[in-house]
Amino acid sequence: MSQLTDEERRALLELANEARRRAYAPYSNYPVGAVLRTKSGRLFTGCNVENAAYPTVMCAERVAIFKAVSEGEKEFEIIAVVTSNGGSPCGSCRQVMAEFGLDTVVLIGDGEGRLVQETSVAELLPGAFTPKDMGK
Ligand code: THU
Repeated sequence: MSQLTDEERRALLELANEARRRAYAPYSNYPVGAVLRTKSGRLFTGCNVENAAYPTVMCAERVAIFKAVSEGEKEFEIIAVVTSNGGSPCGSCRQVMAEFGLDTVVLIGDGEGRLVQETSVAELLPGAFTPKDMGK
């Protein structure tokens, strides 16, 4: 699926884990870190940002994706997500990932730097509603 080297996987998981340290998660105590690599090779990190008004939380993956889009990048190659226990991206993040391509590789790692799962957006969100469904 991807031509990633083990070294690239390790480096991406480490960057996501570093981003995780910047998480603002005083309510859940579940910090999440992400790093997105664009097809042009740029890297965008993200962490979850919580709020006393709980529903306004923003996930790490979407922070990384929105940072990239706001900087003019819309073609993504890979996103790495790290949590303490190798948790999987939530449904909202899967939907946002799907907007920008079902082929994006998704690396899921744990806090020890271990790769828990290597998958794709297509696998994480089968039957996705995408821009095509809106004629785009
Ligand atoms: N969270 C993420 O950052 N990404 C996900 O895909 C799952 C959940 C965050 C949101 C919240 O701050 C905490 O994890 C617990 O749900």
